[in-house]
Amino acid sequence: MTPKVIIDCDPGHDDAIAIMMAGRLTEVLGITTVSGNAPLNLTTENALIMTELLDLDVDVHAGADRPLLLAPRHAAEAHGRTGLDGPVRPEITLEVASNDAVAFIIETVRNNDDVWLVPIGPLTNIALALRQAPDIVDRVAGVSIMGGSAGAGNVTATGEFNLWADPHAASIVFDAGFKKLLMAGLNLTHQFGIDKQLISDLRDLRNRAGIFAADLFDFYLASYQKRTHGERAPLHDPCAILAVTHPGLFRFESRNVRVETEGTHTRGMTVVDERGWGEGPLNCEVEYSIDRDQGMRVFLEAVSAYT
Ligand code: RIB
Ligand code: CA
Repeated sequence: MTPKVIIDCDPGHDDAIAIMMAGRLTEVLGITTVSGNAPLNLTTENALIMTELLDLDVDVHAGADRPLLLAPRHAAEAHGRTGLDGPVRPEITLEVASNDAVAFIIETVRNNDDVWLVPIGPLTNIALALRQAPDIVDRVAGVSIMGGSAGAGNVTATGEFNLWADPHAASIVFDAGFKKLLMAGLNLTHQFGIDKQLISDLRDLRNRAGIFAADLFDFYLASYQKRTHGERAPLHDPCAILAVTHPGLFRFESRNVRVETEGTHTRGMTVVDERGWGEGPLNCEVEYSIDRDQGMRVFLEAVSAYT
């Protein structure tokens, strides 16, 4: 069965690649956007760029332009001022289907069985949907997030950007009681890195999607290496798609996970209880390993399927 998904995102280079993969590996019921890597107007424009470039018959709905309580924060150092720096910016003719992502999420989940929510940016839209319609918790097939970490953070020693940007929203989502909450944290996504070989393989596909992805990665890899000197740059968001479409690539462990909302030094930290005898509910399937090479083959095959 091809999974039905709603992608909630803040494009962002890796969000754009996640959309590219989902366009071939899943049935995308809609894309919702949120403030994150860039302000909402740009993350929304970037989502429209991807649906037009890939010729996806998928509506984009704009959502929250700020976190629940905190001031908006962005990641221009990783994604550039536009949120999608690198490639020549395509002209777009498409427009947003609505500015009410939360209503779209609620209505779509209520009207379709077995929908996966795949949030790969700050969790503001998902938290707002839960507040308005708690019934969606039992209606969805599951939630597969990119966020948090069963290890170090990236914005801070403990905070990963998506959950650090809106820890209050993340806490609502992790405490909601979803029957399936999959977490692709930084401990996992740093095993799924891109390098110059992959960029070359993408260019060799000789199709528009492959060239655009390669142009995105040229910027993303260079920007990452400027800041960290790593050989590879972690491809975060596509892991949340693969966890739904290819769970066999991963090792999951059931864990109790809470999100820190008050910590001076631990804002947005995912507190993953690895003791094995803790009292909290095992509310999250934490991903600890991925078969990188097989995952990259799945990625290249999906991109090659675009004309
Ligand atoms: O920390 C990585 C996450 O923050 C990814 O989703 C990336 O797109 C940014 O949103
Ligand atoms: Ca993202």
